[in-house]
Amino acid sequence: MVNMKLTIIGTGNMAEAILHGVSKYYQVEVVGRNQKRLDELEQKFKKNVTFSLLKENFDISHKNLILCVKPYALASVSELFTGQANSHLSVLAGVRLEDLKRYIPALHTVRTMPNLAAKYAKSMTTLCGDRTFKGEAIAICSCFGEALWLDSEKEIDIATAVAGSGPAFLALVAESLADGCVKEGLKRTDAQVLVQGLFKGFAPLIEENHPSLLKDAVMSPGGTTAAGYGALEEANVRNAMINAIEKAYKRAKDLGEK
Ligand SMILES: NC(=O)c1ccc[n+]([C@@H]2O[C@H](COP(=O)([O-])OP(=O)(O)OC[C@H]3O[C@@H](n4cnc5c(N)ncnc54)[C@H](OP(=O)(O)O)[C@@H]3O)[C@@H](O)[C@H]2O)c1
Repeated sequence: MVNMKLTIIGTGNMAEAILHGVSKYYQVEVVGRNQKRLDELEQKFKKNVTFSLLKENFDISHKNLILCVKPYALASVSELFTGQANSHLSVLAGVRLEDLKRYIPALHTVRTMPNLAAKYAKSMTTLCGDRTFKGEAIAICSCFGEALWLDSEKEIDIATAVAGSGPAFLALVAESLADGCVKEGLKRTDAQVLVQGLFKGFAPLIEENHPSLLKDAVMSPGGTTAAGYGALEEANVRNAMINAIEKAYKRAKDLGEK
C-alpha cells in the first residue's frame, strides 16, 4: 500500500473506472452528492475504500484530490470546498490548468486525460501540470493503465483526440469491419467475435511493431490485403483519420477556452 490517501470527488463512470485501479494500491475516500450511487459503489468496492456524501464546507486541506465531475460542474463543486488541498488531479476534459487552480486551491495541480479503459487498468492517460507532483501523478495514473507526461496543455489537447476519443474512432472501424463481413454473408454474431479477436491480437502486435512494417508484413504482392488496402486508400481513410484528429483537437481547444 502506498502511504498516501486519495480523495475521489464524483461517482460517475470515470470515477468508478479509476477506483478499480487506485483502490488496489491506495487508501481511497470517495465523495459524491448522490447517496444511491455511493451505496451502489460501496457494494462493489469493499477493500481500502470509504464513501461519504459531499456536503457544504467539505475541508480539502492536505487531501490528494482526483476530481471526476463534468467540466461544467467545476465552479459549483468548488463552492462546497474549504481549505487548500495538497494535490489536485483533474480528469475534466479540456479544462485549463489556469481554471483548475483558480477554482480549487492546491499545492500541486495536474491535468490528466484518461479513458474508460481505466476500468481494465488499460487507460492510456496523458498528464501535464506542476512538475513538483509529476512522479506521484504518474504513479497514481499508472494504477489504471499507462501514463505519459506531456510538456504543455497544447499537447494534452492533441493527445485527447487520440487517448480520449480514440475508443470511439476505433469502435467505428470495428463496427464497419463487422458490417463488411455481414454484407458478404457472415452471421452477425460470428462477425462480432471475429472483430473482437482481431482487436485483441492487434494490441500486442502494434505494441512491438511500427504500423508500416506491420502492414508490409501482412501485404503480399497481388494478395487479399493489397486489394483491400487499395480500397481504403481510394476511400481516403488515411485522410479521414487525420481530419478526425484535427477536428477533435480543435474541439478540445474550444471547450478549454469557454
Ligand atoms: N467518460 C469518459 O470516457 C471520459 C474520458 C476522459 C475524461 N472524462 C472526464 O471525466 C469527467 C466525468 O465524466 P464521466 O463520464 O464520469 O461523467 P458521469 O458519469 O456523468 O459522472 C459525472 C459525476 O459528476 C457528478 N457531478 C456533476 N455535477 C456535480 C456537482 N455540481 N456537484 C457534485 N457532483 C457533480 C455527478 O453526480 P450525479 O451522479 O449526482 O449527477 C457524477 O458523479 C468529465 O469531466 C469528463 O470530461 C471522461
